[in-house]
Amino acid sequence: MHDRIAMYNGNALKIGLFGANCSSGRCATTVPERWSASWPDCLKLAQLADQAGLDFMLPIARWKGYGGTTDFHGHSLETITWAVGLLAATERLTVFGTVHAPLFHPLIAAKEFVTADHIGEGRVGVNIVVGWNEGEFDMFGVRQREHDARYDYAQEWIDVVKQAWSCDGTFDYDGQFLKLTGARAYPKPFGGTRPLLMNAGSSEVGQAFALKNCDAFFVATAGSRTSLAGNATKVAEIKAAARAFGRDIEVFTVGQVICRPTQQEADDYYRHVNIDNADWAAIDGMLANKSITPQTIPPDEYDNKRRYFAANAIGGYPFVGTPDRVAEELAVISQAGVLGIGVSFVNYLAEVPYFCAEVLPRLERAGVRVKM
Ligand SMILES: Cc1cc2nc3c(=O)[nH]c(=O)nc-3n(C[C@H](O)[C@H](O)[C@H](O)COP(=O)(O)O)c2cc1C
Repeated sequence: MHDRIAMYNGNALKIGLFGANCSSGRCATTVPERWSASWPDCLKLAQLADQAGLDFMLPIARWKGYGGTTDFHGHSLETITWAVGLLAATERLTVFGTVHAPLFHPLIAAKEFVTADHIGEGRVGVNIVVGWNEGEFDMFGVRQREHDARYDYAQEWIDVVKQAWSCDGTFDYDGQFLKLTGARAYPKPFGGTRPLLMNAGSSEVGQAFALKNCDAFFVATAGSRTSLAGNATKVAEIKAAARAFGRDIEVFTVGQVICRPTQQEADDYYRHVNIDNADWAAIDGMLANKSITPQTIPPDEYDNKRRYFAANAIGGYPFVGTPDRVAEELAVISQAGVLGIGVSFVNYLAEVPYFCAEVLPRLERAGVRVKM
């Protein structure tokens, strides 16, 4: 598994693109240049990222838009089929598919990921999510389980998937939720290992699930240069908690990047996109999915939450500034022990080339990435 988690390269800090399969990516904004998430744009982006030496692409499994002026995330390419297309068209990138355990039968998911893994020759990853978005489950006619029971189900789900990937011959499974008889799955994953597994649960039970079962744990907030010590402590705590389960885990995080030649330009654009032109109705829709409304919490608390979601691109530190500043902050994250970060851009195709040309060489000089 070492080569898989290293994403087949020597970069101490892995950098990936997060959210490109969904319209507007990770920024609920009305600006006209917001991300389309069309297939031609995704394909161009993946090939550009592959050639520039970025490490991974992480999609968002989203089935229904959040409404608002833009119907934020209203257009989303299904993540496993998206990953398959991108893996076939690239050579180096690891591409994740994100799967809602309660919506996909584990044997079908196991087989889909094996197929993707053979197409990508060992470059597919799996993000296991249990779902938090009530409206989405209603649309399938599937009832969401009570919070912690979602992870009980996910435990059985991942046990079945791992058995399908590893068991030579036929197996039965007799769980509380899943009962399988005479299950058999061939071929096995590429190269005698298995796809990378990640999870991003933020609750205690979600984190425990990740530590017990996954190779990578994504946290939404891994701070800034001002909280280096705090980050290092957090990463150390997560790794120690994993060791208590007899496992090693790598910590990843997410963020938004707005990188411009001057700090003023970056700050102005950040404000223009994230705040002045925020799609506030979409943000309200997203909060309502978490049962957060002006009726359920005090008005000033509600206002803080929606501002937080706008300012942090729906969860994740905003890296806003010159190439020097963005590189410095990313290096700090790496020094805190974070293995990788999934970043989003307002318009990935328009902005990733500048990021790769200016920030990646600075990270090489800082010793956290190697030259391709
Ligand atoms: C990096 C990252 C990626 C995520 N991807 C998805 C996703 O694609 N679909 C989804 O429904 N939830 C996604 N989530 C939400 C988490 O899986 C999780 O449900 C959420 O953090 C709440 O945690 P909990 O389930 O422990 O309560 C993501 C979260 C993060 C930080």
